[in-house]
Amino acid sequence: MSEHPPVSPESLGLCVHGNGSGTCDLCRPESHEAPPAVFRLEEFDQEYFQELEGQDGWKAIGQENCMNQSYFTVCDESGEKLGIVGLYDTDDEKNITHIVIDPKHRGKGMLPKFYEALTGSTGADYLVATIDRNNTASIRSHEKAGFRKTSDDKYEEEFDKFRYQYDVPEED
Ligand SMILES: CC(C)(COP(=O)(O)OP(=O)(O)OC[C@H]1O[C@@H](n2cnc3c(N)ncnc32)[C@H](O)[C@@H]1OP(=O)(O)O)[C@@H](O)C(=O)NCCC(=O)NCCS
Repeated sequence: MSEHPPVSPESLGLCVHGNGSGTCDLCRPESHEAPPAVFRLEEFDQEYFQELEGQDGWKAIGQENCMNQSYFTVCDESGEKLGIVGLYDTDDEKNITHIVIDPKHRGKGMLPKFYEALTGSTGADYLVATIDRNNTASIRSHEKAGFRKTSDDKYEEEFDKFRYQYDVPEED
């Protein structure tokens, strides 16, 4: 009998958040409901972040080369958690963003509101997004929010990412 390679839950379209089969709340398809009116930044909730990101979520948080981290939990008016947004520096780059919108609230175009709250709170005058080349939703929503691609072929080949930047408009 021939040996088959191991099959990952992702490749079968199954839940990867520990349910074993089917989908859970974190896997729910994108919603098209209206976004909440008010976005508040609350203290960073590590447990919630890990719930959203799984072990991968600790990539940025745990790395030595991620300095000056400013991470927040984004909530609506009633205190419901909408996701996580954060900012960190590396030796080579400043103001790198980290954004995760709660799967329950994706597809509502909330990314610019998350970033507006972030720049309001940190005073950052520009934001850098380094996005995996296969993360179509992220590329699309950053472009819609006015981020422009600044990476060249060399960068993209080396990191398998695109670099996007948004310059926060000066207030009058
Ligand atoms: C990336 C992320 C922040 C975008 O948030 P969102 O609420 O889904 O974004 P938007 O509502 O702006 O919609 C995304 C756009 O991508 C499109 N899209 C979503 N999934 C897609 C896919 N698999 N292929 C092509 N387009 C896709 C949507 O249709 C929408 O475009 P439209 O408005 O023209 O229809 C969110 O999906 C997320 O948190 N993902 C997990 C973490 C992550 O990848 N973070 C970014 C790291 S750089």
